[in-house]
Amino acid sequence: MNKILFVCLGNICRSPMAEGVFRHYVEEQGVAEIFSIDSAGTAAYHVGKSPDVRSQKTLLNKGLDITAQRARQVQLEDFGHYDYIVAMDSHNYNDLKHLSEIAGSQGLLNQAEVVMMLDYYEGDNNPIDVPDPYYGHGDGFEFCYELIHNASQGLYKAISED
Ligand code: 4NP
Repeated sequence: MNKILFVCLGNICRSPMAEGVFRHYVEEQGVAEIFSIDSAGTAAYHVGKSPDVRSQKTLLNKGLDITAQRARQVQLEDFGHYDYIVAMDSHNYNDLKHLSEIAGSQGLLNQAEVVMMLDYYEGDNNPIDVPDPYYGHGDGFEFCYELIHNASQGLYKAISED
């Protein structure tokens, strides 16, 4: 089983998209049963909420339904449960590295590899961060989708070859 946690700041815009897109991708590949996929936020502002309607709509336009997802915050125990914890941007990555150190210092199991989503982007002008779309307009969500869709395929390949 490959356990993957996608993480952004609020767990209502980017990481719910990544969870939905990556789950759909492994379903298409016929290997969904060997993946356990979830998403979380480094912040607790939106715990319990549905994904932002703009994320929901962006994915509904692609035929993906993420409306049942609910936001949660990253827990120290996640570092012992997941194999990969995938950050949407550098800020989330730095926060996750810090949390990983705390998990280790508390003697918790800490096996997760913390990685950046766009390290798996395939193409030219490799962007570093999936930009936070929360305060922008609709196109920001479509752009996030394009980045996440591309990198999901690269992430899947990397995990399959691991
Ligand atoms: P996310 O976007 O990290 O992609 O879920 C955000 C959601 C909420 C806020 C910021 C970013 N916020 O400040 O409430």
